[in-house]
Amino acid sequence: MQTLTKSTTQSVKDAFPLNGTDHVEFYVGNAKQSAFYYQMAFGFELTAYRGPETGHRETCSYVLQQDKIRLVLTSALSPEHDIARHVREHGDGVKVLALWVGDAEYSYNTAIERGAEAVSSVETLTDDHGEVKIASIQTYGETIHTFVERKNYNGAFMPGFEARKGLCPSKPVGLKYVDHCVGNVELGGMNKWVKFYQEVMGFNLLITFDDKDISTEYTALMSKVVSNGNGYVKFPINEPAKGLKKSQIEEYLDFYRCAGVQHIAVTTDNIIETVSQLRNNGVDFLYVPDNYYDTVTERVGEIDEDIEDLKALNILIDRDDDGYLLQIFTKPVQDRPTVFYEIIQRKGAKSFGKGNFKALFEAIEREQALRGTL
Ligand code: FE2
Repeated sequence: MQTLTKSTTQSVKDAFPLNGTDHVEFYVGNAKQSAFYYQMAFGFELTAYRGPETGHRETCSYVLQQDKIRLVLTSALSPEHDIARHVREHGDGVKVLALWVGDAEYSYNTAIERGAEAVSSVETLTDDHGEVKIASIQTYGETIHTFVERKNYNGAFMPGFEARKGLCPSKPVGLKYVDHCVGNVELGGMNKWVKFYQEVMGFNLLITFDDKDISTEYTALMSKVVSNGNGYVKFPINEPAKGLKKSQIEEYLDFYRCAGVQHIAVTTDNIIETVSQLRNNGVDFLYVPDNYYDTVTERVGEIDEDIEDLKALNILIDRDDDGYLLQIFTKPVQDRPTVFYEIIQRKGAKSFGKGNFKALFEAIEREQALRGTL
């Protein structure tokens, strides 16, 4: 049963203040080509670079931006580097969910005092443009959270990086900010990581979905959504549940080889325009059969958009007490069936599209069947 546990808006003092998502860093096999994909397919703009040409000999990083969304793509330049090992083990995937904080020292020390596992203590990075403080803690799998304090920094991304533009002008598709980042964890791991976010980082449990909410004829999963005090950072955590066949979460864990980030949801103010452009750029989305649209109006009531436009683009619709939302999911963006993106437009709704879970998971099962992993 779905349980709405707590509102995201709180009047009490925030136990762990976060300003929002600072950036998401991927470790990839070839950052140069991945950066080109995000520029050409998703309309991101290349803004900064760090590599041998900037005096950094071991890795290459490209920083891409679209409105408030910042992605960093990093590759190793030698097989001995730990990033090369990470890519061999997991394929391309999310390494860092970086959180923008007002005081990195406070965030890091508080997290450690409350039981977080340290990755790297506070480091102050400086250049002519100012200073940035960073510190990191471990979360599920090999994923880490980096706290980023960037008071008064006016350079490109961070000290060590230099400003860089893409060779072709980027064409933004209207993506605005990160709405939520979902983690897939091992069976039995969901409650452990929900407890971690509650006890270490002061998050609130927002919603619980059990296997009856999220199941098809064949597969099932369970999910809990945690949110920070101001509601700007939301992390749904999924774990597999018993079904007749292999769930998408088990498939993910088999291919990623441990817990990790499953999808990043990014917002737009005009999903029809955004998805039209993404499709024109060659972005591949999950397919939902046309009969989904036969009954959708009965389920969601009146909406501003023309259902035929949504049907043509395969955009899903759901409603909750606060309004409605429009969403669509890409296919995985690398060879392994691991990380993908959700494009979401919220028109009041604060939830996650529960009414679409069945259609969505059946769509994923069709892809799993093609891969021979159902
Ligand atoms: Fe999502």
